[in-house]
Amino acid sequence: MNSPLQHLLDNNRRWSADLTREDPQFFSELAKQQAPKYLWVGCSDSRVPANQLLGLAPGEVFVHRNISNLVLHSDMNCLSVLQFAIEVLKVEHVLIVGHYGCGGVKAALDGQRLGLIDNWLRYIGDTLEKHQAQMEQVSPSLRHARLCELNVIEQVANACHTTVVREAWDRGQELTVHGWCYGLEDGHIHDLGTDVNRFDALEASYQRAVGQLVSAA
Ligand code: CO
Repeated sequence: MNSPLQHLLDNNRRWSADLTREDPQFFSELAKQQAPKYLWVGCSDSRVPANQLLGLAPGEVFVHRNISNLVLHSDMNCLSVLQFAIEVLKVEHVLIVGHYGCGGVKAALDGQRLGLIDNWLRYIGDTLEKHQAQMEQVSPSLRHARLCELNVIEQVANACHTTVVREAWDRGQELTVHGWCYGLEDGHIHDLGTDVNRFDALEASYQRAVGQLVSAA
């Protein structure tokens, strides 16, 4: 009996055959080990696929996704991914990637009631309140984009404050945390200028990024 998802299984076989035709050793080499240089922490949104939009093949980026790309100090899932990526895989870059048009950010901005997820999105509500004065200066049409960016900048700071990242820096491990925001409308990633590669650079980087947001242009 065919699965109702037979088309997906067929796609998979075609994809595997195409890759193997280009490089007969591709899967056998990749099965032995992974050595990605990048950890992607992005939104679960189906329109923001990490590998494709970076032009990276399987094996090149370690991925964690959740709604609205949050890095929370109580989230064992995200913290475990961070630890494994940094301490075992030794990634050199942590990419915190939000996106414009993020539904989670919009729900937080509008104070929508959606049920259980409101508790998760509450952290974006905290960011909104923290930056209330700046948000009030932004025209209503830009507020959603601005909050998407501020959310990324806050998550970069959160990542830098984790014990995992701080201990990596204390050991002298090369590690940079980046904050990006992806545009659904043109497929372009915008660098929010929040790169941090040591703990004592965080505060200045945070202030600079908050002071010159992309959506202001
Ligand atoms: Co989103």
